[in-house]
Amino acid sequence: MSMNTQIAKSIAMALNNELTVTEIQNLLEKPRNLDLGDVAFPCFTLAKKFGKSPQSIATDIQNNLSCDVIQEVQVVGGYVNIFYHQPTITQQVLNQIVKEKNLYGTHQASKGNVVLDFSSPNIAKPFSMGHLRSTVIGNALANIAEKIGYKAIRINHLGDWGTQFGKLIVAYKKWGDQQTIEAAPIEELLKIYVKFHEEAEQNDTLNEQARAAFKALEDGDEEALALWRWFREASLEEFKTIYQLLGIAFDSFDGEAFYNDKMVAVVEELEEKELLVKSDGAYVVEIDNMPPCLITKTDGATLYATRDLAAAFYRQQQYDPKKIFYVVGNEQSLHFNQLCKVIEKMGYDWAKDLQHVPFGMILKEGKKMSTRKGKIVLLADVLKEAIATAKRNIEEKNPKLEHKESVAHQVGVGAVIFNDLKNDRLHDIEFSIGNMMNFEGETGPYIQYTYARISSLLEKSEEKSNEVSLATLGEQAWPVILLLEQFPKVITNAFEQADPSQIAKYALQLARLFNKYYAQNKVLVDDNLRSSRLAFCQCVAIVLKESLALLGIAAPKHM
Ligand code: ARG
Repeated sequence: MSMNTQIAKSIAMALNNELTVTEIQNLLEKPRNLDLGDVAFPCFTLAKKFGKSPQSIATDIQNNLSCDVIQEVQVVGGYVNIFYHQPTITQQVLNQIVKEKNLYGTHQASKGNVVLDFSSPNIAKPFSMGHLRSTVIGNALANIAEKIGYKAIRINHLGDWGTQFGKLIVAYKKWGDQQTIEAAPIEELLKIYVKFHEEAEQNDTLNEQARAAFKALEDGDEEALALWRWFREASLEEFKTIYQLLGIAFDSFDGEAFYNDKMVAVVEELEEKELLVKSDGAYVVEIDNMPPCLITKTDGATLYATRDLAAAFYRQQQYDPKKIFYVVGNEQSLHFNQLCKVIEKMGYDWAKDLQHVPFGMILKEGKKMSTRKGKIVLLADVLKEAIATAKRNIEEKNPKLEHKESVAHQVGVGAVIFNDLKNDRLHDIEFSIGNMMNFEGETGPYIQYTYARISSLLEKSEEKSNEVSLATLGEQAWPVILLLEQFPKVITNAFEQADPSQIAKYALQLARLFNKYYAQNKVLVDDNLRSSRLAFCQCVAIVLKESLALLGIAAPKHM
């Protein structure tokens, strides 16, 4: 039971259960100044209920409060100020971590499915930096959901349908070469796609042809379908090398095309519910204070939004999810707002479970980073560069290291992922391989290095002891213990706010505070302090490793 829950329970008892534990927990505050206490309970809002002054309610609580984790209680104004009993808390927290190991912070409270729609790149286009962000944020969020008891369903809603495939088919027939495309599908498909646009400026008939080709595709023309399938498979194979590098797997790659035969039912239902409005030959759903949501075009063709509607209904039926996250950049906010509103207008209360999780851009030297600049820079190449940099670091600092290749992989990829996840989701982030690999900076490798350092300490000693006490650890251990205690709460907050950066920041702080402790306190001492300190180190290692795991980052034992 967390410290706060224990305290809230004893306050509830002191108040003869006139308030629930949750109500009390919601009222608990952090005092502005640590001299005032570790946690404070304000009584101002209770005055009316109890018909007493806040001051006298606080005094009643003080007189009746008894709890192992409390050292001292003071009444100041209408506040009950509480000081933690540090030795008891130390023992409780460390014993719990030693016992639960990597399950520490796991809750069974949440049950059911959480659907995460993330990554979702577009076929025949390079995997963009925006898709990288979606991928790492979405995956971390899925890990966090699993940690608190949900089953995470990871869906890659591939951009595999749309008028661009008409253009690609025309372009391929005119300028494409099967062998060159097979050798480097995305690069070559992009080339002919760009060429199509250049030529179309001179030649109007090209766009006509593309429309016809897309129409043929939608009507199930075998030749068009075969080309589309090939473009899709070849692109997906390239994307999969990126997912493999990142260590990320999906439950489904059902993209936009998957919903081709599932839209009719939704459009019919919209019609039945009299929500479709004709507008210049197209059909839209009107929404208050927002542009209308376009459902079918003048020629009857469906749109991105129609597919997302069908997808939402399909997933609802298939998974009955508690929540659906769409991890997609800022620029699509309107689209997801419209999606929720349309479902709401259809009368489904699960519309409230749909949540767009937007994020900022990736910048290089302050400018939006593009995956193509003249020549295409493939994301896989960027990741490989990070891995190569990690490898050079190892050769320089620890040339005798075993499993160099896999460690370099874990460090390079970890650096890229952490560099993204340490930032508030909505912030733009700077992409600099040099900075993200800095062992002393706010980086993934810094945390991995801290973990590896502790691991080798633990390896150097045989004894395992559960006898821990704050007295043997030294008082500098206290801020670290306080942080360890907060881990479960940090996880739930990260989930509720759909913000993995809270875990990344937490891990940085834990590593920093531990390193500070370690700089001033010897662990491998030759007396009875040793086993207690080792147990403490082990707890820090467990939580660091688990934090990284939630972010989708490995923690090598040596580096
Ligand atoms: N393929 C889209 C893009 O690259 C992202 C799809 C996001 N997911 C969704 N269900 N709309 O912009």
